[in-house]
Amino acid sequence: MSLAFKLANLHNGITFNNPSVGALILYKNKIISYGITGIGGSPHAEYDALKKIKSKKNKYSLYSTLEPCHHEGKNPSCSDFIKKKNITRVLYSDKDCNIKVSGKGLRYLSNNKIKINNIKNNFANNFYKEHNDFSENYYPKVFAKIATTKNYYSFIKGRKKITNVYLNKYTHLLRSQINAILVGVLTVNIDNPILNCRIEGFDNLSPARFIIDPRLNINTNSTIVKTSKHIPTYIFYSFENNYKIKFLSKKNVKLIYIPNNNKFLMDPKEILYSIGLLGYKNVLIEGGLKTIELFLKDKLIDRFYFFKNNDLIDKNASHSFNKVHSYLKNNFKRNKVLEQVYIADNSIEVYQR
Ligand SMILES: NC(=O)c1ccc[n+]([C@@H]2O[C@H](COP(=O)([O-])OP(=O)(O)OC[C@H]3O[C@@H](n4cnc5c(N)ncnc54)[C@H](OP(=O)(O)O)[C@@H]3O)[C@@H](O)[C@H]2O)c1
Repeated sequence: MSLAFKLANLHNGITFNNPSVGALILYKNKIISYGITGIGGSPHAEYDALKKIKSKKNKYSLYSTLEPCHHEGKNPSCSDFIKKKNITRVLYSDKDCNIKVSGKGLRYLSNNKIKINNIKNNFANNFYKEHNDFSENYYPKVFAKIATTKNYYSFIKGRKKITNVYLNKYTHLLRSQINAILVGVLTVNIDNPILNCRIEGFDNLSPARFIIDPRLNINTNSTIVKTSKHIPTYIFYSFENNYKIKFLSKKNVKLIYIPNNNKFLMDPKEILYSIGLLGYKNVLIEGGLKTIELFLKDKLIDRFYFFKNNDLIDKNASHSFNKVHSYLKNNFKRNKVLEQVYIADNSIEVYQR
């Protein structure tokens, strides 16, 4: 089981909204096949391991880090395939609280006279905590990331990137590990970003993009709008604008209405619930200052990635994160393990609530 967890760990964080699972098949106490949930979530680990078995010799055992599923979606039902391949015993570690799974696969296996044993997770406690928490409350984990100068400015006129090539790559790695990305409309209109994952081989792991745009002010020729046929794109809005709604819908942008609260703002918590209900387990807020401050004020950010370059720039710089940085220092804990990435002359601080 420990080995199965090590396999699951290889794809942990890059299986989109499916959990990363490891599976092994044994015959006479020898491992004859293995599987891992594929990058992006398919195939399932059990299916991956079972499809490699050619003959249907009896007395195979299957070890799986998570209970097998019994539903068909993008992937076939694992428990059905387990039965077809004549597995006689299934050993699993953790329960899957996802309503589509929980207990159904195990029931099906035991009804078909397949022995089931539970082995306690001895690799990492709570390996599936994030997955199981989400399955119960549909509330996403919230990360934030910002890049600033050494003196905390997040905008420099005429300069597109603030940090160096290593931190820019790291941003793309982060994007490959999260399901959704969220920004305020001014970031879209000023920076014209694409907000995808640009690492070769990981491009299909680009997160869905969410934009907070109460008045539907988004530039209609922005890169986000132009690429919305290929990358799921959502806009939260509060004021009707029939022309814009029609135009954006045609471009495949999904519009989500959220009313203004008494402070003339959308409630950030309501925004997060909407993202969760669409099935996105986690979200990375990538700015700008105004958007991040609203989520921070309501204590909704779980982890904050603070990237800094080495320059002390004042001229043509704006949007100071000085106060945000002090707030993080006083209210969050530093996560030194997550800071251990190669970044040359720039720096990274990771704050955990
Ligand atoms: N260095 C970096 O890492 C980085 C990253 C991102 C952005 N930036 C820079 O930051 C600047 C943009 O930041 P910003 O602070 O000016 O703007 P922003 O956060 O990108 O967008 C703010 C706007 O989003 C809308 N909004 C956000 N939260 C809302 C809520 N809860 N309810 C209602 N509306 C909400 C409002 O739109 P309305 O104005 O329509 O009310 C608000 O004015 C750009 O210059 C960009 O270059 C830097």
